[in-house]
Amino acid sequence: MVRDLRNRPLRDLRISLTDRCNMRCRYCMPREHFENHDFLDKQEILSYEELTLVVESLVPLGLAKVRLTGGEPLLRRDVCDFIKMLPQELDIAMTTNGLLLEKYAHDLALSGLNRVTVSLDAIDIETFQAMGDTKDTPETVLRGIETARKAGLSVKVNCVVRAGYNEHSVEKITERFIGTDVVVRFIEFMDVGETNSWQDQEVITGQMMRSMLDNLVKIEPTYVGEVANRYQRGKQEIGFIESVSKPFCGDCNRARLSADGSLYTCLFASKGNDLKGIIRMDATKKQIANAVRTIWSSRDDAYSENRGSGETEKVEMSFIGG
Ligand code: GTP
Ligand code: 5AD
Ligand code: SF4
Ligand code: SF4
Repeated sequence: MVRDLRNRPLRDLRISLTDRCNMRCRYCMPREHFENHDFLDKQEILSYEELTLVVESLVPLGLAKVRLTGGEPLLRRDVCDFIKMLPQELDIAMTTNGLLLEKYAHDLALSGLNRVTVSLDAIDIETFQAMGDTKDTPETVLRGIETARKAGLSVKVNCVVRAGYNEHSVEKITERFIGTDVVVRFIEFMDVGETNSWQDQEVITGQMMRSMLDNLVKIEPTYVGEVANRYQRGKQEIGFIESVSKPFCGDCNRARLSADGSLYTCLFASKGNDLKGIIRMDATKKQIANAVRTIWSSRDDAYSENRGSGETEKVEMSFIGG
């Protein structure tokens, strides 16, 4: 096992399969910043073989979980073929906006995906379209969720709550999933990246969200380092991801791999550590593991705990996934 300077293990690798997305959420990829954006070219992006090599290299270091993200991971061609290539003893999950889920859910489940987390910020069409800057509708996402459940995938819903946009979603989305096994999680709006014009007045804290719901009972985390604070309301599970008001860096065991093969040790980092260079010089698994061990052992990140102290430009969330 490898541990960082704060004694945190490396358990979770989040892989961005593409920096592209078919939505333009105002808090993530504001259109005015992304309309002339230079997205990665195919040859810059790690192939599925290269990604599999990285994952296999990290298993001996203690890796237990892989999450496929984007941008929007379902935009990457043949993603099911990649899932089949991954070591099946890992917990394999995906974070998606759900627009293409109805089409792919069945094949994803058959390929070995265990879980899917679907972003859904509103179920009323006006708010959904305003936050996502999209002409798509929440119905498409809801059909995706239903198909995923029927295909046997565990489903969580992630809802970013931003003041002035969707406070009402806390109640509406909670209600929408009563009586289902879908776990709903509400996320504080974070100051990730440089383009989303984050202001602290726009943060609805977890505590404010909880005051909108009655009969919440706190329950224990399912594992060390879980990002959501879990509550139960009757039989329903509701989580709050409070990285602004209650940072959880102390247990952070997540590394992020950008589509172009850089390893980031924090969501708020400005720079990654290039792995593509050594991969394309035919590094062995052992050499890749050693490179990652060196990177991880010198890691001291705790951005959310020291918020605002960094002076350097932060990477965009759509580039390294959530
Ligand atoms: P589970 O395995 O289901 O617990 O997944 P997860 O909660 O780790 O993954 P998910 O992608 O659903 O994460 C939910 C959200 O939490 C992300 O989209 C981010 O907004 C936030 N988040 C996840 N990891 C971190 C982190 O390391 N730091 C911060 N600040 N926020 C994070
Ligand atoms: N603050 C909080 N969550 C965010 N996400 C994207 N940008 C932000 C932000 N600025 C969420 C998405 C998705 C996950 C990948 O991260 O809605 O659920
Ligand atoms: Fe796309 Fe997700 Fe970012 Fe929205 S939050 S723009 S769906 S990557
Ligand atoms: Fe981990 Fe960085 Fe998030 Fe803290 S801010 S929990 S160190 S990714």
